[in-house]
Formats: sequence, C-alpha cells, structure tokens
Amino acid sequence: MNAISPPSPQPISDDDVHVALDLASAQVRRNLPTFTYAAQNHSSIGNVYPPVANDQWTAGFWPGEIWLAFEHTGDKVFQYAAQIQVQSFLHRIENRIETDHHDMGFLYSPSCIAAWKLVGDEDGRKAALLAADQLIERFQPVGQFIQAWGRRDNPNEYRYIIDCLLNLPLLYWASAETGDVKYRDIALIHARTTLAHSVRPDNSTYHTFYMDPVTGEPVRGVTKQGYADDSFWARGQAWGIAGMAFSYRYEPLPQYRDTFERLLSFYLERLPMDLVPYWDLIFTQGSHEPRDSSSASIVACGLLEMADLVGGEDADRYRDLARRMMKSLVEHYAVSDPSLSNGLVLHGTYSKKTPHNTCRGEGVDECVSWGDYYYMEALTRLSRRWASYW
Ligand code: GLY
Repeated sequence: MNAISPPSPQPISDDDVHVALDLASAQVRRNLPTFTYAAQNHSSIGNVYPPVANDQWTAGFWPGEIWLAFEHTGDKVFQYAAQIQVQSFLHRIENRIETDHHDMGFLYSPSCIAAWKLVGDEDGRKAALLAADQLIERFQPVGQFIQAWGRRDNPNEYRYIIDCLLNLPLLYWASAETGDVKYRDIALIHARTTLAHSVRPDNSTYHTFYMDPVTGEPVRGVTKQGYADDSFWARGQAWGIAGMAFSYRYEPLPQYRDTFERLLSFYLERLPMDLVPYWDLIFTQGSHEPRDSSSASIVACGLLEMADLVGGEDADRYRDLARRMMKSLVEHYAVSDPSLSNGLVLHGTYSKKTPHNTCRGEGVDECVSWGDYYYMEALTRLSRRWASYW
C-alpha cells in the first residue's frame, strides 16, 4: 500500500464534527419553507439555490440532507418534510419525468431508500424499486454496461461514465429487498466493466467511456466535464474512489481495494495544501482556477466507507485523512453566514466549460447540491456508526 504523506490540516475533533452538524442541520431547517414542496437547483446562483421542479439528476441530495438532519437532531419536522419529498419522487418515477438516464441511484437512494430504512415509508420503497427497474432497462449486454445518457439505440450515446458506480447501490438494495438477483447481477457486471476500462495506467480516470455497439469492445475514454480528454476531472476521480469502496463492499475483490488505493494516491499527489482540489487535477497548488469542494466531501465519504470495510492500519489511515479533509472543509469552505448563502459548502464546481470539453458551463465556484449532501454524510459517518442509505 502507498504511504500517504502528512497533509497540512489537522484532523477534525469529535466536538467540531458535532458543531458542524448542528450548523448544517440549522441551515437545512432554515431552508424547509422554500424547499419542502420544491426541489433545489443542482447548484446555487451567487451562492443562493433557487427552488425548481423535481426534474434534475441532483434532486435526491436535498431530501438526503433533510434525512441526515433528522438523524442528527431526531426532530420530526425533518421527517415530515422529507416524506413530502418522497411523494414527489414517487410521482416522478411513476410518470417517468426526466428519468431517461442512469442517475436513479443518486435520485432515489438518499431520498426514498433513506425514507424506507429510517421510518418504513412504503412509498419510498415502492419508488426506489421502480427506479431500480428503470435503471436496469439501460443495461447494454453488448459491452456489459449501464448506458449513461440518451437513447439506448443511438450509437453516439453508447457509453458509461465513472459516476455511475454510485448508482449501483440502488440495484444491490433492490435485490436484497425483493430476493430477485437480476438487479445485483447487472450492478456486479457494470462495476467490473468500469474496473476494466476506466482507470488509466497512471491511476487517473476517464470520465466517460465509449464501447463498440456491435462488438462490445472498449473504444475510448473522453471527458464531458473535465478540462480535456487527457486531463483529470477532480470529481470523476472522487466518484472513482468512492465507487471503488462501494464496489468492494458489495463484491470484496482485491482489485477494487487496490484500485481504490491507486486512485487515491493519484488524487493526493495533486491536491493543494488544504486538501481541497481544484476542479480538475491538472491544476495544482497556486492555481487561480476554481476549486471543487464537493470532490473532497465525496472522497471523505469513500475513505470512511473503505475504513469500515478493511479495519486495521489502513482504516486508521483513511479515517485520519478524512478527518483532515473535513477539518479543511468545515473551517474554510462551509457557509458561516446564512445571510450570504442558503447552501452548506461554498466553492463547488458543477461544469466549467473549456474549448476541450462538451459540457454547458454552469455552477462554477458555487454551492452544489451533492457537495452539501456528501459534506453532511461525511460528518454523519464521523459522528456515529451510520446505517448507509447506499
Ligand atoms: N454525476 C455528474 C456530476 O458529477 O456532475
């Protein structure tokens, strides 16, 4: 295993974790009047999230924050608000509103599986199972992957993306819940396909990966949201790290653990001193490019997930690093003045447009919905033995 050189922020203390969760829960509470019957936009605009319809891939993160606030405080006002959100998610999947993509896990794990696990919400269970049915429809046997976006008969869309590893826990849950192995089988296959093709020899990752629709052979990796095809999108690397940890939980192959270490080493080598990456890891200490704070929260969750699975010295090392990353986020990135932002964590980056990528520029140096959610999840994991929604 690679040694991790001592990073600069100190590990966050249990007391500081508790205070940070108090502050985050208070911010969630302040947001309930605006976002009980509305969804939160994927990213803030001038650090303020507008309310929107429940039709984006990111809509599950806000109810996830409400559930985490419920777990932290025990206050039923959070339960009631989150269960109102569950009805919106049931309506969305029953009517297939903007569900023709792979992000069913991001949508339905923190909203509806959480509702079922925490308070036995039957509609949450029903909605999440419908979402799992939708997700497996996107499986492409030729190439053995779940297609990310677009029509499944469009050869230009014949690709998966590394982010999808975080959609797979929905499928493992669906098999455990129903006894039908078809969901789990597809998740296992997709995870192995990702392992086979998405990691470059230098331990960085491709964001998206095309397969040949006729032969099923791997074709090429390209970026959508990174700086360029040969750069290192910071959130993609984070999805890879967390995704390897979850893959190892559901199928403890040594390759998942080894790959977790390799991706982590690459990430750590390119972090600036405060352990929060620039939005692409080609930018390093001293750059003036925006950060992506959400990438750090995702990695912290991945570290804490892997620590629970492996134990021993590696677990201590992962927990120590997660505590240092969270210290940095809590002290220098978390929203401290709610009059300036209705989010939890500043300096996230959703999609920065460059001449070399294919995304729309939006949510640059803003709060981002998943950044807020994973920040709370990492703090929650540090505060208790947490029963995961994933
Ligand atoms: N999964 C899309 C993103 O991370 O922006």
